[in-house]
Amino acid sequence: MLKIAVLVSGGGTNLQAIIDGVNNGTITNTKIEVVISNNQNAYALERAQKNKIANLCISPKDFETRAAFNEEFLRKLDSYQVDLVVLAGFLVVIPPEMIAAYKNRIINIHPSLIPSFCGTGYYGLKVHEGALNRGVKITGATVHIVDEGTDTGPILLQKAVEVEEGDTPEILQRRVMEQAEWQILPKAIDLIANGRVRVEGQKTYIK
Ligand code: GAR
Repeated sequence: MLKIAVLVSGGGTNLQAIIDGVNNGTITNTKIEVVISNNQNAYALERAQKNKIANLCISPKDFETRAAFNEEFLRKLDSYQVDLVVLAGFLVVIPPEMIAAYKNRIINIHPSLIPSFCGTGYYGLKVHEGALNRGVKITGATVHIVDEGTDTGPILLQKAVEVEEGDTPEILQRRVMEQAEWQILPKAIDLIANGRVRVEGQKTYIK
């Protein structure tokens, strides 16, 4: 059984897709051990509570130094002894110590086809604003393994989504979630839970 922690900052629709996937059998051999948010008001925390999943909030704002936050964040995560950490709209930079301790065991969902519209400053609606401003006809979402860089780790799954005339960032965001994110994030977890993912350097291979 793959034990996972899901890290969130906002609405938690990707968390919901994971909860639904575990409940309806799209995701197998997986248990959500804990949901961690940096934002006490995140609706994602309510989703966890409604589903009786352990949840907690830890924010850099409540610590005097970033180093103190990083240390406590890692200590709390470690206490749940999870096999995989899933970043589902988590907007805090993952401490380097955590990336080292969980090498190739942290995945992230990003709402574009990496390497487009990713890296520092590209998160949430800003990603879709970037895509619309550039005039791309196709965008999508990516699940990747988290390394020390921002959105630079090995790509695990991607799914393309068409941009349509009249799209606003909000409309495009919703379509990318529905047609890509809520499908490939649960799928990635299921693949990992069933030992079907191998990582070699910058590449992943799926059995
Ligand atoms: C999602 O679109 C996710 O891809 C994005 O934040 C949103 C969270 O929505 N993540 C990033 O932009 C990471 N760089 P949710 O809370 O409803 O799942």
